[in-house]
Amino acid sequence: MKDKLVIGNWKMNGNCEENQRLLAEALPELAAVTGVEVVVCPPFPYLAQVGAQLQGSPVSLGAQNVNAKERGAFTGEVSVPMLNDFECRFVLVGHSERRTLFGETDEMVAEKYAAALSGGVIPVLCVGETLEQRRAGLAENVIVGQLQAVASRVGGEAMAAGVIAYEPLWAIGTGESATPEQAQQIHGHIRQWLAGQLPSGTASPRLLYGGSLKADNAPALFAQPDIDGGLVGSAALEAQSFVTICRVAQ
Ligand code: G3P
Repeated sequence: MKDKLVIGNWKMNGNCEENQRLLAEALPELAAVTGVEVVVCPPFPYLAQVGAQLQGSPVSLGAQNVNAKERGAFTGEVSVPMLNDFECRFVLVGHSERRTLFGETDEMVAEKYAAALSGGVIPVLCVGETLEQRRAGLAENVIVGQLQAVASRVGGEAMAAGVIAYEPLWAIGTGESATPEQAQQIHGHIRQWLAGQLPSGTASPRLLYGGSLKADNAPALFAQPDIDGGLVGSAALEAQSFVTICRVAQ
């Protein structure tokens, strides 16, 4: 069985001083956490700083976004080879904030997923439904559509090489997470969909839950059979909260 995975997505937060302080407090405690892979995703300008501070620790570096092109006239963008230069092991693709605020389509997300995989960076594909879609009974269809767009681009088998994060949009930054039952229901559905894509015997990728994941709701969420860890937003900015979530995942 793969280790659980907990990823801290710092979003557009932090500065040199805050990053340093956060890691100085968290890293010694995270060193004692076993059976859990821990990753932090700072904003691009801090990859070098954070990467240097992570040296010698069991915590890996991730990025929040990437462009599918390798290089060229794409002002403001960052490529997979650039992430490799900073030893980023993971990259988030298709985070709902990218989809809703920056116009990323399923096709763009699929290109990013493909580029990350072929460049040796593990893509963390974020999927999730809006409240309206959930109320209309469309949650599962929306999520399968988001997954299918990537599988059509890279082939179903390649879904095993990434990570999938279910983040219902109505739970992100709202303080109101999905209930463990709601989350498990979607995770179970994703697991079933994956089983239809992967050759039998292939290990399923890890499925993370994200959306107001905190130290107090993590135990019930992580106890669900198809939840293999978490994608943590605001609680990842507070050392003790993040450490507690990682400990709960053990
Ligand atoms: O990627 C993590 C995320 O979108 C959840 O954010 O602040 O609700 O934990 P938050």
